[in-house]
Amino acid sequence: MTEPLVLVEKLDHVARIQLNRPHVLNALNMQLIRQLVEVLEECDQDEQIRVMIITGNEKAFAAGADIKEMVDASPVDLMVKRYLSDWLRIRQISKPLIAAVSGFALGGGCELAMCCDLIIASESARFGQPEINIGVMPGAGGTQRLTRAVGKVKAMEMILTGKSITAQEALDYGLVNRVVPVEDLDKEALALAQEIASKPPLAVRLAKQSILKALDLSLEDGLHFEQNNFCMLFATEDQREGMQAFVEKRKPTFRGR
Ligand code: CAA
Repeated sequence: MTEPLVLVEKLDHVARIQLNRPHVLNALNMQLIRQLVEVLEECDQDEQIRVMIITGNEKAFAAGADIKEMVDASPVDLMVKRYLSDWLRIRQISKPLIAAVSGFALGGGCELAMCCDLIIASESARFGQPEINIGVMPGAGGTQRLTRAVGKVKAMEMILTGKSITAQEALDYGLVNRVVPVEDLDKEALALAQEIASKPPLAVRLAKQSILKALDLSLEDGLHFEQNNFCMLFATEDQREGMQAFVEKRKPTFRGR
């Protein structure tokens, strides 16, 4: 039997999803991305799960799209196979995604981390968009998400030189949330996931949606979008529970309803 390309472990309200092609530094072939997206979509539907963690291994989160799969491709092949279309499905996931990154997060690996809502890096993490060195450029969101994350001049430097940055530089640039010792990565990612999982899931979901809209909309439209989501939460049981618990000076219990 062939090994699954992603391994899934569900711990209470958190799903830990591990990329599993270690012999090629988790190079992201189409099959792996398809399996990852299917697992994410399944977790998004699973009422038990509130947060998903995507991780790799100590040597690599992922060293990019699978170059061997692309080396002989023509533009028509890429279009016919809808080569990058599964990547767009990650954007539709409504629950928070945390990337827990050790080792290489290059090319599509860096782009996958940036598809996530929060990034925890270990001290060994290296982020970069080296596609320029193999005759192409980022194709799974790198020019867009890296620029939004670190600003134009740093994105230009990283993408045009192909040089990677350390975890500490990624922290200084605002690309990652925090840097932790390698041995603590799993524990820290899980603690963050559990903290978010303890919050009211529908409020978390609409807050995520609203923050992502801030990157797309004008301030005027974004403020309207936020107001609508805020008002909508007053239709939830968790709003009543959260505010009632505050008034009664007790801890709320959120059910995601
Ligand atoms: N695709 C396919 N195979 C890859 C790979 C990739 N992106 N990255 C690593 N591998 C494979 C290597 O071919 C090697 O396999 P073999 O043992 O069969 O030769 C194995 O993984 C181990 O890699 P190395 O021997 O190269 O390991 P290293 O420690 O010496 O170097 C590295 C590590 C610097 C990350 C180097 O592997 C590397 O430069 N990888 C490619 C990085 C890259 O260019 N990524 C961008 C891909 S394009 C992309 O992502 C496009 C997009 O935006 C969608």
